Amino acid sequence: MSTAWTSRYALRTKGIKGSAIRELLKITQRPEVISFAGGLPAPEVFPVERFQEACHKVLTANGSLALQYGATEGYEPLREMIAQNMARYGIRANVDNVLITSGSQQALDLIGKLLINSGDRVLVEAPTYLGALQAFNVYGVEYVSVPIDEDGLRTDSLEGSLRSGPKFMYILPNFQNPGGTTLAEGRRHELVLLADKYGIPIVEDDPYGQLRYEGEHLPPLIVIDRENLRRDSGYQIGNVIYLSTFSKTLAPGIRLGWIVAPPDVISKFVQLKQGADLHTSTFTQYVAYEVARDGFLDEHVKRIRSVYRERRDVMLHALSELFPPEATWTHPKGGLFVWITLPEGVDCEKLFRAALAENVAFVPGDSFYPRNGHPPRAHMRLNFSNAQPEQIREGIRRLSTAVKTQLHELHATSV
Ligand SMILES: Cc1ncc(COP(=O)(O)O)c(C=O)c1O
Repeated sequence: MSTAWTSRYALRTKGIKGSAIRELLKITQRPEVISFAGGLPAPEVFPVERFQEACHKVLTANGSLALQYGATEGYEPLREMIAQNMARYGIRANVDNVLITSGSQQALDLIGKLLINSGDRVLVEAPTYLGALQAFNVYGVEYVSVPIDEDGLRTDSLEGSLRSGPKFMYILPNFQNPGGTTLAEGRRHELVLLADKYGIPIVEDDPYGQLRYEGEHLPPLIVIDRENLRRDSGYQIGNVIYLSTFSKTLAPGIRLGWIVAPPDVISKFVQLKQGADLHTSTFTQYVAYEVARDGFLDEHVKRIRSVYRERRDVMLHALSELFPPEATWTHPKGGLFVWITLPEGVDCEKLFRAALAENVAFVPGDSFYPRNGHPPRAHMRLNFSNAQPEQIREGIRRLSTAVKTQLHELHATSV
């Protein structure tokens, strides 16, 4: 419906459309639907009591500061804690390198604001995080996409795309959303070297890095960048801007993420963030600090890992037991998602509707490709963190019924 406002919308909003699938996903909140659609953490693992105690403590000891406006950069003890935690993964950042954001999603928007002129190219993985596409689209971005396989970004297909002059690359090295894939160590080195060769910086988005269920932690791109290029000691952070968040380790409702970047870039982000929200909630930052301190966060992450590892295993097991042999899927070593590939010709939107009729939901794969890209095959993203193990088994059973029916129809029409 058009109103007096419609004709006044800024040009940059023209290409932004709601999706029919998004609307349908609302149905997935019905209790009878088993949803593998959202990227939601398990609510059972939220440390509610610890939050209760922390709120009480913050309000008692620091109420007047925690309820006041704060610095745009964020609450300093929290930034220090983040810098110390990251040091364990080799990321050498100090407080001046860390900006607290209202979730990583705000960091993506600030990156778009800072770096993207209308018509600029950004190199993304295909598929990639839908929320990043949404954040960048509004700035009039053009995409160059490079495919992923089970070892993450296909660095062998990267050079041609880099020659087309993207402004930056947006990369998800750990347990990619939606692919569930992890960028192999050798490819991490290749990527950083190619970035340096072509002078194209990298935005490394790492919300899931700590949620690893098997294998060894791999070095972040920001670390390889610093080490490989033997930057002199004063220049600790160079070609890579790194993002992470408490959404998957504590709770997404607190909306707390952070950016690691060189101090001059942080200053620029600070100016942009002032225009967006002045600063991230002071109260939430105090509470998160109080919750995470004294080793609680580490212990909590261990608990989450064991809960999610079990759910991943249940899902992978159910898939291999129940899904037809024409389907293949990734084996995520961490994170929240399994990515399923179905034979060419399967219409995932139709499958989505058929699945809803069976009371099970997933996100059709084409949502995760840039708007000008053509997804080559039919894909589904399944989340395994939010449903209980017995629901996962039942959900995969229902989904396999819908998939088999679609495949049957496909075979019938192709005969
Ligand atoms: C890859 C990726 N980046 C960023 C985000 C946004 O996270 P946040 O809750 O911190 O805004 C998500 C959330 O699912 C994500 O998967």
